[in-house]
Amino acid sequence: MTFDATLDPMLNPAIPSPCYVCEEAKLEANLQLMQRVQDESGVEIILALKGFSMWSTFDLVKKYLQGSTASAVWEARLGKETIGKQVHAFSPAFKPGDIDQLVDLVDHISFNSLGQWQRYKQQILASTVSPGIRLNAEHREAETELYDPSAPGSRFGILAKDLVGVDLTGIEGFHIHNLCECDSFATERTILAVEKKFSQYFGQLKWINFGGGHLMTKKGYNVEHLIGVLKAFKARYPHLNVILEPGSAVAWQTGPLVCEVIDIVENRDKIAIVDMSATAHMPDVLEMPYRPEVRHAGKAGEKAFTYRFGGNSCLTGDAIDLYSFDHELQIGERIIFEDMIHYTMVKTTFFNGVEHPSIGILRKDGTFELVRKFTYEDFKNKLS
Ligand SMILES: Cc1ncc(COP(=O)(O)O)c(C=O)c1O
Repeated sequence: MTFDATLDPMLNPAIPSPCYVCEEAKLEANLQLMQRVQDESGVEIILALKGFSMWSTFDLVKKYLQGSTASAVWEARLGKETIGKQVHAFSPAFKPGDIDQLVDLVDHISFNSLGQWQRYKQQILASTVSPGIRLNAEHREAETELYDPSAPGSRFGILAKDLVGVDLTGIEGFHIHNLCECDSFATERTILAVEKKFSQYFGQLKWINFGGGHLMTKKGYNVEHLIGVLKAFKARYPHLNVILEPGSAVAWQTGPLVCEVIDIVENRDKIAIVDMSATAHMPDVLEMPYRPEVRHAGKAGEKAFTYRFGGNSCLTGDAIDLYSFDHELQIGERIIFEDMIHYTMVKTTFFNGVEHPSIGILRKDGTFELVRKFTYEDFKNKLS
């Protein structure tokens, strides 16, 4: 079937519904921006797989980034197999069996506690892996407490008071992840807070990792300021290799989740039920929570016809806010939820056995490539 390229590419009938569609050109533009940050500031950027693990795009990713960071053994293996280059790992706690596997997979490992470091120190020192510890900056920047490593009572990172007098022989790096969808000024303040608390130890280190949450690909982000902040830090500590490990920023605004209306019911609002589920396929909408953008739609009442979107699961709260359109929605009509590439595919479930969205790539030349379709067997094989 030929498709009129002047139409919205997401209306291409080759795109099945539901489907996550990663737009290659947008992903490459993000990666090119990160290339510039690396070139101009001298830092290394690796991909946090937790946010974006769509490995069918990793031939592109590895042209620009220096590797990946993993939250567990399986991610580390995925990073090594698909991106290669450097593989880093951090987890709140590693089991002995994890370390046995990680020593052959990773280049850097960051421990969340001094207890974990002591437990695995001999094994790590006998390997080629560069060990680090995660620190708690005790400096709050993230807007949502759910995503704030410096929130009171957080289990992440060692507190400055607990490092006093500790023998750090063997430790080569510090890891500080403190941000979530933040701007460059939050990075600057975090770096200053970290220096104030921990710079007395910097002399003995080889690297420092300032984590993720740097949303440098968001429109309006002050990239020049970020470059300036990183360059200034590097000038103060030229012996340190500085690493950033964003997830969101890599895949930010690189494509939608395409779905379609399968019924319209009414109870107070008109509710358009779509062939996917917020809880199963875009859980952050409910968890964070936030209102996703829908292409061609306005706020409630802004345009003539207002609808709530309902996911196709049994959960009453599987509902996605109110949106208005210029026309009455039709059964079978495509709905395009924007920016659904990061923290979506990595978090999906097969809840209710609702059909899992396919995964596809809109290539730079405008052609659509379906890279994964899910089947009943995938659902069955996850269970037993
Ligand atoms: C340790 C660590 N590194 C990196 C990231 C990636 O953060 P983001 O996707 O916000 O850039 C996270 C996110 O939770 C994280 O916990």
